[in-house]
Amino acid sequence: MKTKLFLLSAMVAGTLTSCIKDEAETVVHNYSAEEYATISKHLSLPMQVDDYNLDLPEVLGAFPTSTNPKEAALGRVLFYDKRLSANGEVNCATCHQAEKAFADGEQFSKGVVEERTSRNTLALGSFPSFNAYYGFGGTRMFWDNRAGSVIEQSAETMKNPVEMGNTDLSDLADELLQEDYYRILFDKAFATQTWLNNEEKMLQALQTFVTSIGCFNTRYDKALVDANGRDDLDFPSFTQQENKGKALFNTNCVSCHSLKSTASFGGFTSITAANNGLDSDYQDEGVYSISQNEAEKGVFKTPMLRNIELTGPYMHDGRFASLEEVVEHYSAGIKAHPNLHQNLRDANGNPKKLNLNENDKQALVAFLKTLTDNTSLMHSRFSDPFKG
Ligand code: HEC
Ligand code: HEC
Repeated sequence: MKTKLFLLSAMVAGTLTSCIKDEAETVVHNYSAEEYATISKHLSLPMQVDDYNLDLPEVLGAFPTSTNPKEAALGRVLFYDKRLSANGEVNCATCHQAEKAFADGEQFSKGVVEERTSRNTLALGSFPSFNAYYGFGGTRMFWDNRAGSVIEQSAETMKNPVEMGNTDLSDLADELLQEDYYRILFDKAFATQTWLNNEEKMLQALQTFVTSIGCFNTRYDKALVDANGRDDLDFPSFTQQENKGKALFNTNCVSCHSLKSTASFGGFTSITAANNGLDSDYQDEGVYSISQNEAEKGVFKTPMLRNIELTGPYMHDGRFASLEEVVEHYSAGIKAHPNLHQNLRDANGNPKKLNLNENDKQALVAFLKTLTDNTSLMHSRFSDPFKG
C-alpha cells in the first residue's frame, strides 16, 4: 500500500516536472549568484542543474523517466556525504562506487565497524531498468526483498549498525540543515512539497538520485534498437560468438533475468526472486528470513544483469569471483533444493544440467559482456560533488 502511494506521488511529481520542463530549459541559472557562491565553497555543482531524465530505448518498453532534477541533485550530495554515517567515515559510495556500476568489488563490505555486511553489495547501475523489470508497483529491494522502496531501504541502511550506524535520522536531517548549502539545496528541491519533514525530504532525495541511475549505452541496447526489438534474430553488430551467447542466454536465462522491460505491465512474467540451486542447504535463508514461508527458503532476488561484468563477485554471498564460475554453476553445478525454481529443473524435476562445452561457456560470457555501459555511470551528474 505504502509503495503504491509512493508510486502515485512519484507519478504526480513526474507529471509536474515534465510540465515545467520546457520552462526549466530556458532558465539558465538555478541559483542566485549569492547562493551559488555559498554552495561553491564546499561543492562542485553545475550552475544549471543536470538533467536526470533517462533516454530509455523505446524497444525496452514503457517506463516513466521524468525525474525532478533538483531532488536528484540534492540526493547526489547526500549520497556522497560521510556525515550520513555515525563515525563520519562512510557514505553510500563507500559500498556503491560509480565505476563499478555502483557495487564495490568486495565479497562482503565494510561500513562503520570492523564487522562486514552479511551479504554482497547489490549494484545500483541501471536501477530504473530493474524497477521496470520488476513491474510497476512491485519493486522490492535487497536480496531478501525486504524493502518496498529506496526510501525504506535507505532508512534501513543508515540505521544498520554495520553499514552506517545512525540511530536518529530526524536528528541527522536537522543537523545537515545547519549547513547553509544544504538549506539552499533542500529549499530548491522541495519548494512545492512543504508537507514533508526534513527526514522525509532527505530520504526522498536519495531515492530520486538512486532511481535516476541508468545505463543503456550498451552494445546490446544499440543492437536491439537497430533490430527493432527483435532479440531472437542474430544482431549484425555482434560477433558470431556473442550471437551464440545471446541464443544460449535466450534459451536458458532470460526467463528469469529479463533484459527488456515490457510495454504492458499486465502481461509481465519475469521472476523477481528464486532459488537457483547454489546449495542443497542454505546458511542464509533469504526471503524466508523475512516471510517465514517454507516455500521461500533459499529464495533470493533475481539480480539485473546489466553491467554484470563490473559488479563481481557474484551471488548474495559473493561466492563466485568470475562470470566463468557463474556459467559453470548453471552448466553443471545446480544443486537439488526443495525450492529450486521450475526453470532450472529438467522434465523429471531434477536439477538441470546444461552441460555446456567450452565454446558455449565462452560465448555466454562474451554475451554477458555486451551488457556493459561504462560511460553513462561516469557522467559527472553521478560523481562525488564534495571539494577536497
Ligand atoms: C557498508 C556498505 C553499504 C553502505 C554504506 C550502503 N550500502 Fe546499499 N547495500 C549494501 C548491501 C550489502 C546491500 C544488499 C543488502 C541486502 O540485500 O541485504 C545494499 C543494497 C542496496 C540497495 C538495494 C538494491 C536492490 O537491488 O535491491 C539500494 C537501493 C542501496 N543499497 C542504496 C544505498 C544508499 C542510498 C546508501 C546510502 C544511504 C547505501 N546503499 C549505503 C551495502 C551498503
Ligand atoms: C530460476 C531463475 C533463474 C535462471 C533460469 C537463471 N538465473 Fe541467474 N540468478 C537467479 C537468482 C535468483 C540469482 C541470485 C541467487 C543468489 O544469490 O542466491 C541469480 C544470480 C545470477 C548472477 C549473479 C548476479 C549478481 O549480481 O551477483 C548471474 C551472473 C546470473 N545469475 C547469470 C545467469 C545466467 C547466465 C543464466 C543462464 C545460464 C541464469 N542466470 C539463469 C535466477 C536465475
